[in-house]
Amino acid sequence: MLANQTHRASDTPTVIDLFAGTGGLSGAVQSDLDIKKTYIDFDDIPVNPDWAFDSIRSVEQLTHGYHRYPAKFLPNVVKKIIEDHSPANCNVIADLFAGCGTTLVEAKVHGKRSIGTDINPVAQLITRVKTTPIIPETLQLSYENLIAQFDEFNEANYSDIQKHERLDYWFKPQEKSKIAFLFDIVHELIAEDFTKEFFYVCISHILKNCSRWLQSSTKPQVDPNKNIPDPFDEFKRHCQKMMKSNEEFYNDLNKKGYLDVPCDILLKDARKTQLKSESVDMIITSPPYVTSYEYADIHQLTAYWMEYVSSMSEFRKQFIGTSYSGNTSLEVRGSEQAQDIVYALAQKSKHIAQDVAQYFNDMQDVATEMARILVPDGHACIVIGNTKIKDVDIKSAEVFYEFLKNSGLHRIEVIKRSIPHKLMPTLRDVKTGKFTKLDNPNCKKVYPNEYILIMKK
Ligand SMILES: C[S@@+](CC[C@H](N)C(=O)[O-])C[C@H]1O[C@@H](n2cnc3c(N)ncnc32)[C@H](O)[C@@H]1O
Repeated sequence: MLANQTHRASDTPTVIDLFAGTGGLSGAVQSDLDIKKTYIDFDDIPVNPDWAFDSIRSVEQLTHGYHRYPAKFLPNVVKKIIEDHSPANCNVIADLFAGCGTTLVEAKVHGKRSIGTDINPVAQLITRVKTTPIIPETLQLSYENLIAQFDEFNEANYSDIQKHERLDYWFKPQEKSKIAFLFDIVHELIAEDFTKEFFYVCISHILKNCSRWLQSSTKPQVDPNKNIPDPFDEFKRHCQKMMKSNEEFYNDLNKKGYLDVPCDILLKDARKTQLKSESVDMIITSPPYVTSYEYADIHQLTAYWMEYVSSMSEFRKQFIGTSYSGNTSLEVRGSEQAQDIVYALAQKSKHIAQDVAQYFNDMQDVATEMARILVPDGHACIVIGNTKIKDVDIKSAEVFYEFLKNSGLHRIEVIKRSIPHKLMPTLRDVKTGKFTKLDNPNCKKVYPNEYILIMKK
C-alpha cells in the first residue's frame, strides 16, 4: 500500500495502515503493533464546475497571448480568484512564481497593484512587457520603422557572428543571421526601453518556430525534418498579433483609469523574496510541478540570445522542482506525509526521491515566506495539482496545504477544479516519469484535476 493512500476528503485526517517508523519503506509487516498515521487527503472533494471554464474560446485575451509559457494560469481562474476571494481592502497582490505574468496582468485590469517574483529572467522579461501598455500609435510607428529595414539585410554581414555555441546547434545559419539582424535593428532603432522590450518578446516567441526545436515539444528535442519558416515573416505575423493585443489592453486600462497601476516584477527566489514583512494583501500563485518542466531548458533559446546565462547547469539548480537539484538526502522537514512519499519513491528511484525531497523542503520554505509577507487577514490562493511518479502519488496539494498551516495560515476553502485537457499535458511515461504522448505504450493519465487552496493569515 502506498504511504499516502487515504479515502476521505477533509481537514480531519483519515487513518491509514502504515508501519510506524519505516516511513513507508517496503517489507514492513502489518501487525497489531502498527501505529496508525494520519494524513490530510483531498481526494473526495467534489469537482466544482464553476471553475472549469471549459467553454471558453480563447485564453489569449488582452496580453495573455504574447508568449507561450508551460503551465501558465488560465486567466479566468485568476480573474475569479480576484473577484471572489480578495480580502477586504485588498491593494497589493503578489505572485511568487510569476511565470509569464498572468496574475500581474489580471491584477492590473482589476486596478490592483501587483508584485511578481520569478527566478527566470525570461519570465521577468515577458511579464514586464505583458504588464506595460504602450500607446498603440507609437508602437505602430516603431514597427513600420523596423520592417522598413528588412530590405537592408545582407547575410554576408552576419556570416561570422559570435554567439553562444548552443545557438549553432539550434539554428541553421540562414535563420540565425536573420534573427541576429532582428535583435540588432531593435537595439539600434528603438530608443524607448519598454518598446524595445516589446519587440524582444516578439523575437523571443518566434525563436522556437525558427529553430530546429520540435514544434510540438516543450522539451529540447531536434526535429530533423522541420520546415522552418522565415524569421522576418514570423516576426511580422507575431508583432501584428501582439500590437492588436496591446491596443485591447491599452484601451481597457485607459477606459478604467488603470494605465498607471504599478506592477513590479523582480528576479527573486520565492524562498527568499526580500519583500517586506506584512506588505502583501493577497498572494495568487501556482508553484512549479516537481520534475516535470525544466524551465531553464525550455527557455534556453531566449536565455542564450539575450545572454542571460552562460552555464545551463548552474542556472537549472536555482529552479524549484528541477530534476537537477543535486540533492543527495531523502530527509524532508515538517511533514510526515511528504517524508513517506519520498521514502516510497526511494524504492523505485533514489535519484528522483532526492529531487522530490528537495522540492518539498523548498516548498516548506516558500510557505514560510508567504506567511511572512502577508498582512494579518491577508489571503493566499494557491493553484496546485497532484501527480504520480513511478506509480507513487505525489500529493503536492495536501503537503503544501500542511506547510501553509504549519506556517500559521488557516483554511478558508479548498476547491477542486478539472483542467481542460487542451491546456495541460495529462500523460506521463510510467517508466521515466516524464510527460509523454498518447502513442507511448507506457503512458498514464496524470492530474486531470487541480486544487485551489484558499487560505487566510
Ligand atoms: C507553474 S509556473 C508559473 C506560471 C504562472 N502562473 C503563469 O501564469 O505564467 C512556475 C514558475 O516558477 C518559477 N520558479 C521556479 N523556481 C523558482 C524559484 N526558486 N523562485 C521563483 N520562481 C521560481 C519558474 O520559472 C516558473 O515560471
